[in-house]
Amino acid sequence: MTELSTYKLYFLQGTGDFILKELLEKFPDVEVESKGRKKILFRSKDKDINTFRNLYSPVQIENENGTVLNLSRREWRKAYVPAGINPSLAYILCMVADLSEEDIVYDPFCGAGVIPITALKYFNVKRVICSDISGKAIEKSEINFNTAGINKGKYRSFRSDIKDVALNKKNVEKIISNLPFGIRVGKHSNNIEIYKSLEVSANRLLRTRGKLVLLTQEKKLLREVFSKENWNVKSVLRVDEGGLLPEVFVIKRQNK
Ligand SMILES: C[S@@+](CC[C@H](N)C(=O)[O-])C[C@H]1O[C@@H](n2cnc3c(N)ncnc32)[C@H](O)[C@@H]1O
Repeated sequence: MTELSTYKLYFLQGTGDFILKELLEKFPDVEVESKGRKKILFRSKDKDINTFRNLYSPVQIENENGTVLNLSRREWRKAYVPAGINPSLAYILCMVADLSEEDIVYDPFCGAGVIPITALKYFNVKRVICSDISGKAIEKSEINFNTAGINKGKYRSFRSDIKDVALNKKNVEKIISNLPFGIRVGKHSNNIEIYKSLEVSANRLLRTRGKLVLLTQEKKLLREVFSKENWNVKSVLRVDEGGLLPEVFVIKRQNK
């Protein structure tokens, strides 16, 4: 009988179902022993912890000798913005979005580009668009696109306030974004205008069956802005992110 090695996978509280899904899709032969609030224990024939480097949704893996691999680290993430998203969570947002290779993905609050790069590199989407009000953020995303080795034809990035976004083609399949929360960055009063402008842009740019996947702490505001008459708003996940409890919302047009 082959001896099995035991591993512990650590993840952001609230995201366990996604971690299990990625683990079992990529390693269908592992035996899951237990699933807790922050970790999953599993056993595998593989003795080398590096085998599990291609898991992107958990934050860490540990073997029985106490060797730890950081699974949130991305070799291409050289530039950071304040309140940048954890890359493991960016990967989970892309899982929630159910991306396909035909999709054009837009992140209008792209920061250093972590979500669009994740969508291109690991989900092989057709193209991404990213914009941000901050010129520094766009410079940083450019650095990360370069180190990620992404071809210029696969992305477009530009500086813009969400209220002035000069895109008009209704060809975006998914808007995936980590919105300003108004806590670590920005203010609640500014968010009202920002979230209203996001709704206007989404209405203009999203294809009929497109959807938004949004991470935010401004839950009430989001529900007010994406009104029930026009949009179907569902919270699918609540994440424990260092004391904050932002939620991931999936928003579709009503009756789609
Ligand atoms: C929470 S951060 C997103 C971080 C990004 N996901 C990352 O990991 O690098 C929110 C971003 O929204 C941008 N932002 C704030 N107000 C904006 C506005 N009115 N229009 C467009 N972008 C805005 C900020 O510059 C910031 O980069």
